[in-house]
Amino acid sequence: MTSAETHDRAAQPRRDRDAVARRLLDSSEALSYDPVREVDWDTPLDEGFHGTSPEWSTLYGTPYWQEMTPEQQRALTRQEAASVASTGIWFEMILQQMVLRDFYAKDPTDPAFQWALTEIADECRHSIMFARGAQKLGAPAYRPRRLVVELGRAFKTVAVGEAAYAAILVAEEVLDVMQRDWMRDERVAPFVRTINNIHVIEESRHMEFAREETRARLAGAGWPRRQFNALVVAIASYCIVTSMVSEKVYANAGLDPERAIREARANEHHRSMLRSSCAGLMGFLHSAGLLTRAATWFYRRANLI
Ligand SMILES: [Fe+2]
Ligand SMILES: [Fe+2]
Repeated sequence: MTSAETHDRAAQPRRDRDAVARRLLDSSEALSYDPVREVDWDTPLDEGFHGTSPEWSTLYGTPYWQEMTPEQQRALTRQEAASVASTGIWFEMILQQMVLRDFYAKDPTDPAFQWALTEIADECRHSIMFARGAQKLGAPAYRPRRLVVELGRAFKTVAVGEAAYAAILVAEEVLDVMQRDWMRDERVAPFVRTINNIHVIEESRHMEFAREETRARLAGAGWPRRQFNALVVAIASYCIVTSMVSEKVYANAGLDPERAIREARANEHHRSMLRSSCAGLMGFLHSAGLLTRAATWFYRRANLI
């Protein structure tokens, strides 16, 4: 092999990465939203609507769900939607800090650098949109449990490379599969559908970048590093997925929290919804070599596999 050929081989992944970042920048220029203008914030909340597709409720399919009035069911899914949005804000803040740290003092002429800042700007708008959405749904501040908040604080401060980007991907994909259903569902409040629609469109670019970065950072990673980061990503995913719906939603929807929590924890329907919608994501993690035995244990506990 000549030295020119060696050089060419090394430059190829770099060119691919530039091409992806340029395409994402173009796409973002062609199709991005300003939620302040696009979402109907002014029309008062119509309680005749759900907050999520009912099938995504943590109680759907349980005896408790059967006993609830349609009003109670709608009140519950509205609180659940607000909780998912609030968890989204929590994770988007982690994500923004990780991406900002990752690109600190790097080359600003690199398309990936400019894309990273574009993504952070998207997430910043998303978090404000989710905050206003949860408020309009009449929900209090939902936050993950204390331990998870502190683990998140550590993770956003130290996570780098594939650990950061694969965790970003999992959070974005899990949210994406739910929001794709909700944005099309006429039983869901129109302003919530708009929020979901904006998020799904803008996140599809983020997920492409996260997949690309995960693959790129893992290239050449040895066995110990892959094992370790696979486990870190799986634990992060477990924390994210189990924090999606706060246990406080039940009392805020006027239900008996003890019974609701008990039946939600045993709800096989909800688990199978999660599992079937995460099949594509698990396929990607498998192809990236991140589904190690230890990691799989956590994905199973989070009902993603
Ligand atoms: Fe987002
Ligand atoms: Fe994102």
